[in-house]
Amino acid sequence: MSSGRILIVDPIRSGGIVPEGVKKNLIDYLDGYSTCLYCTGDLHSIRHPNIKKLVEELETFIDCSKVRFVHGAREGIFTVMFALYKEYVLKNEKAPVVVADGNAHYTSLLAAERSMLEVVLTKTTDYPEFKVVPEDFEEKIELVKKNYGKPPLLALITYPDGNYGNIPEIKKIVDICKSHGIHILINAAYAIGRMPFSLNKIGADFAVGSGHKSMACTGPIGVLAMTEEASQIILKKSKYKKNKEVELLGCTVRGAPAVCLLQVLPYLKERVSKWKTKVEIARYIAERLEKELGFKLLGEKPHNHDLLHFETPQLYEISLKVRDRFFLYKELKKKNIIGIKPGITKRMKISTYLLEKERADYFIDCLREIVERFEKYAFTNK
Ligand SMILES: Cc1ncc(COP(=O)(O)O)c(C=O)c1O
Repeated sequence: MSSGRILIVDPIRSGGIVPEGVKKNLIDYLDGYSTCLYCTGDLHSIRHPNIKKLVEELETFIDCSKVRFVHGAREGIFTVMFALYKEYVLKNEKAPVVVADGNAHYTSLLAAERSMLEVVLTKTTDYPEFKVVPEDFEEKIELVKKNYGKPPLLALITYPDGNYGNIPEIKKIVDICKSHGIHILINAAYAIGRMPFSLNKIGADFAVGSGHKSMACTGPIGVLAMTEEASQIILKKSKYKKNKEVELLGCTVRGAPAVCLLQVLPYLKERVSKWKTKVEIARYIAERLEKELGFKLLGEKPHNHDLLHFETPQLYEISLKVRDRFFLYKELKKKNIIGIKPGITKRMKISTYLLEKERADYFIDCLREIVERFEKYAFTNK
């Protein structure tokens, strides 16, 4: 699907649209194991296509020591948790607990569960901002220490979260976790590829990104970024096959998504440099929707990300009157706008990432026109 003809406001799609020019180049790589013709035993060292260079460039792009492909952010999170579990929990050195921010994504919880770990969630502030409370990491870490007699295995920070698009106060949280000597994993599924991101500057041990969510990439692919020290735990080699990395089962993404990432990287570098403008557009849209349509923005204000979540009681009222929960979805579709969840009217979650000023105005004007028309003709317009 092209973002040129159709306006996409879907939070999970907006950052994953592959640029038109790249799509046609991928056809040669649709066959199985298409990256493996010149393999010398390790996906990350292949030079044709130049995966080796891609990995090195990603290390610069994310500003970290080591990068490996995974199949998505969730697989990256699981890889880290399971490797740490074996390294520390099985040796009775750490408690089988992840302390995660209160806005953590469900996939982080499942990754912990699959790794036989418990999750302790930190507090967030109340409605309407739901901001992560950094100081609660201290409380929760102490609680785990008290209950288990050992520090938690890992701290996980969702940066930003996928529900409100809140960017947590990362420095404060990292400092707290570091003062307890706890490894830190950043879930940057909504950050890497959209906005500037530096693992070194943040000072965490690991970060995961999502190719299909935020790196303009066909899926499934994600990136796992590590410091040198952290990579010693994750990238251990097999005792049976000397050059194979066990946690990656040897090789991960052995096909088109890796080649796609290779081809879109220059585009990603260029687009993250425009992040300030993206945030300005998001704020502009949020402000107008609040002022002109009475929607209420949830999450932090001023907002710092393109993911916007609104309460929309007026849409719910209209849906009751016209007895059609899908009215907005259908009307927007007629105007070539897609990406709001069909049938959901009490709330609206959108991403403004693909909207330049002109298209932002078009989106707002369309919403206004639909709401005004339906409020006026609600009873007769069925
Ligand atoms: C905040 C957040 N983290 C992780 C994920 C999972 O990403 P992936 O599909 O790359 O595993 C999502 C996807 O919706 C998300 O919103």
